[in-house]
Amino acid sequence: MISTYIPYLDLQPYNNRFAQQDLKTFKEIQATGKLIGGEWVSRFESAFASYCGASHCIGTANGLDALTIILKAEVALGNLPEMAKIAVPAHTYIATFLSILHAGMQPIPVDVEELNLTTQALRQLHQKYDAIIAVDIYGKLVGDEVYDYAREKSIPIYCDTAQSHGATNDKGLKSGNLARASAFSFYPTKNLGALGDAGAITTNDHELAITCRKIANYGRESRFVNNLVGVNSRLDTLQAGFLLNRLPQLDTDNQRRVEIAAYYLKHLQNSKVRLHSLDFLNNNVVHVFPVYVDQRKVFVDHLDSQGIGTSAHYEVPPHQQKALAHLNQLRFPVTEKLHRTEVSLPCHPLLTLEQMQRVVQVVNGY
Ligand SMILES: Cc1ncc(COP(=O)(O)O)c(C=O)c1O
Repeated sequence: MISTYIPYLDLQPYNNRFAQQDLKTFKEIQATGKLIGGEWVSRFESAFASYCGASHCIGTANGLDALTIILKAEVALGNLPEMAKIAVPAHTYIATFLSILHAGMQPIPVDVEELNLTTQALRQLHQKYDAIIAVDIYGKLVGDEVYDYAREKSIPIYCDTAQSHGATNDKGLKSGNLARASAFSFYPTKNLGALGDAGAITTNDHELAITCRKIANYGRESRFVNNLVGVNSRLDTLQAGFLLNRLPQLDTDNQRRVEIAAYYLKHLQNSKVRLHSLDFLNNNVVHVFPVYVDQRKVFVDHLDSQGIGTSAHYEVPPHQQKALAHLNQLRFPVTEKLHRTEVSLPCHPLLTLEQMQRVVQVVNGY
């Protein structure tokens, strides 16, 4: 008999923690009459830049735009050629690929070794490329050696940090302060999530920051002067306010996610369910806790019948999507296996010990 269903993630209780503050914020913003840009956006941008240890933060409408705007800004500055070739891990959400295409560029997918892009994979890449977009997939930072390699070769490296808010490397540097520019998503399910779509770019480069800000706001130099072909991708003022309410909770939430992942890694024991090694926890804020099974549907149905919700990150890799038909002939065996076998277990800050124990019991009983 199932007493309580354990959802993969229920955003209602998650956001209820901030309900009173959010209502206050809503009233305060409404009272200012300044509903686009303004002080709340600047406050969030400074708070988030300083949280990441970066000099600049530019709010955007979402994470996809943040990535696209970085690439367009680099072309405007002459740092990347038009139609640049961008090395990108095959194992990512399609948004990373789409940003490259929206910037008029060409994705050069690279297979991953275990999860993330590696120096070895880049070394083995025969095609030429102009830049790299690394991805901190599942919240795990791309290894420092990938950044070192890019610097050594003078190849600009950007990072898709949509899943790694707050992750810190061994030198104490945070996600958002490792690449030439980083793109965050604050999609509601992210470790730092808004109450709708939102995103941001962080960078330590002043010129790049100014150019990204212009492109995100119609390419506008001043009110009636537009020097660049920009887009409308501003961080919504209300979302900036809601994000300011959540930012102080991020480290505590991330810590809890890591504790849950450590518990799973210690207690999950089933030869039919593959796990990452303990290394998975290094430099990781565990946006996703993945396990791998050969018969995904059977496993998911088993968990569901026992009252446990799951997710998948993801089922079809970008290069196999119909939308990216020109990449469909490529093969990336590691990525394809990850996408074929991955199941994400509940791993959010409100999960109780009892619920974790239940997940372990049901997975071990599969
Ligand atoms: C790895 C990755 N990149 C980019 C994005 C795009 O973010 P958004 O949905 O805010 O556009 C996401 C969000 O799902 C993501 O997970």
